[in-house]
Amino acid sequence: MSSTPTLRLAPSILSADFSRLGDEVRAIEAAGCDLVHFDVMDNHYVPNLTIGPLVCEAIRPHVSIPIDVHLMVEPVDAIIPLFAKAGANIITFHPEASKHVDRTLSMIRELGCKAGLVFNPATSLDCLDYVMDKLDMILLMSVNPGFGGQKFIPSTLGKLRQVRARIDAHVAAGGQPIWLEVDGGVKTDNIAEIVAAGADTCVAGSAVFGAPDADGGYKTVMQALRTAAHPA
Ligand code: DX5
Ligand code: ZN
Repeated sequence: MSSTPTLRLAPSILSADFSRLGDEVRAIEAAGCDLVHFDVMDNHYVPNLTIGPLVCEAIRPHVSIPIDVHLMVEPVDAIIPLFAKAGANIITFHPEASKHVDRTLSMIRELGCKAGLVFNPATSLDCLDYVMDKLDMILLMSVNPGFGGQKFIPSTLGKLRQVRARIDAHVAAGGQPIWLEVDGGVKTDNIAEIVAAGADTCVAGSAVFGAPDADGGYKTVMQALRTAAHPA
């Protein structure tokens, strides 16, 4: 293949400077990212507490790229319309956090957003048997959700290959495209094997925001991730 496949980079603002969030999201868009990954934690589904629809609404005017809202929240249904109203473009949730996964996926699309499911490292992919036609994204967690800066769990690679095969078969049979995103511990030294295993969208929190932007650091990291993703 002569052309390199698309790789979307989605910096997680969990590792951004929250006291200057508007500047931070403008800086990552200017540095060439594709999505803003927005981690919502409720201190119930995960042992941490972060940001909600008000913050989504506050950053919305600062960027033109899509906001990719990852809900680590249980239950999920009541908060989804608030995020749609706050300008979210993609909304993903963990299937075990909804009593009615099919209904929740439909609701997200009815609100005009793209819908996705998130699978923890030890969560089975079984529910994909029933909802492929309702998905715009599948997100595989490569760490246990709750915190930035954790180490990539290698068993994610085999799971990625399985999901890539399922998506390709779905599309070959006439199904809609589905993005395959990976979240947790993505760095320049492992992104090549992650992309080779089938990911087309990579979240990177500490890898991006760990670089000071004062000297163009975000752009440098983003370029380094893209270069490392497709070794010659
Ligand atoms: C973890 C979050 C991730 C996290 C990624 O629960 O969903 O998005 O912020 O951060 P890094 O890239 O530092 O592992
Ligand atoms: Zn996330």
